[in-house]
Amino acid sequence: MIRRSVLLGTGSALPAKSVSNAELAERVDTSDEWIRERTGIANRYIADESETTSSLGTAAARAALDAAGVQPQAIDLIILATATPDQTFPASATKVQAALGINDCVAFDVAAVCSGFLYAVSVADSMIRSGAANTALVIGSETFSRILDWEDRTTCVLFGDGAGAVVLGAEESKDGARGILATKLHADGRHNQLLYVDGGPSTTGTVGKLRMKGQEVFRHAVTNLAAVLREVLDMAGESADNIDWVVPHQANARILDATARKLGLAPEKVIVTVDQHANTSAASVPLALDVAVRDGRIKPGDLVVMEAMGGGFTWGACLIRL
Ligand code: COA
Repeated sequence: MIRRSVLLGTGSALPAKSVSNAELAERVDTSDEWIRERTGIANRYIADESETTSSLGTAAARAALDAAGVQPQAIDLIILATATPDQTFPASATKVQAALGINDCVAFDVAAVCSGFLYAVSVADSMIRSGAANTALVIGSETFSRILDWEDRTTCVLFGDGAGAVVLGAEESKDGARGILATKLHADGRHNQLLYVDGGPSTTGTVGKLRMKGQEVFRHAVTNLAAVLREVLDMAGESADNIDWVVPHQANARILDATARKLGLAPEKVIVTVDQHANTSAASVPLALDVAVRDGRIKPGDLVVMEAMGGGFTWGACLIRL
């Protein structure tokens, strides 16, 4: 028998307040035209004081549990991917756990910035396949608005807040046809000064602000993402032609187009939400996945590949048959 992690349900949550490019241009020296042309972004959601990484993550988790028909008490593992935790510690995963009324399970955060959800899914999948967990809640949740320098127009227009979640369950079958077929993660710390936050508890003692060399990140992103997508396809013995849907990290529409072109994938197969959500870091992949599952594009039986790249650099991909 082959034991795999299967997708039981998806959920997402966004802050109440959306901010259009035009609204942003009222307080930042930018324009709707520049942002749309360079990034494909038209809108983003920004958390108010009452909305936090754990509150958004909890709302996304509840929606995923509902969709899966799974009771919170059945969850034995929570992994929350974030670069913007509520507090330095405890892990925001434990705050979600408490909010869901789960008294005992494994709960921790992973920090791999925009690749965080892929890292979290890969760890959850390993734990499920090894038998260390049976039913996992994997969440990507961020409040990047809190670490943006609103004086820096080259970065502050690019990001938004939000959360996405999936419930993964163990399933044993003879052919192992369904579930997570392959995951692959990478990191290359030589580039950690191209995308970083200039503060932290062990250095400045402050939270800090996001800094990025956008063009260099762009160049690495397309190369790394196309390569890691090929790796997971090879690992599973699948070809790019068989992919039904690509759910990419939503950083920039031009990165999505260039990566799809490199792999020879039809643009219609790429789920795009960057126009509405902007870059929500670790939340972007599960948010986009939830949108496409709920609007009926992604269906049971589909072959779906998820990918992301972020600060570190970190990057990764996951191939799943729904
Ligand atoms: N509004 C208006 N003008 C802006 C602007 C803004 N928000 N931000 C920058 N500009 C200006 C610059 O000042 C520059 O002006 P200049 O030519 O007079 O000096 C001009 O626009 C071009 O800037 P540049 O940085 O060369 O633009 P770009 O085409 O590289 O686009 C990014 C910038 C950030 C959109 C692009 O590099 C990018 O998407 N990079 C990848 C970032 C990313 O996805 N990171 C997350 C990965 S997880």
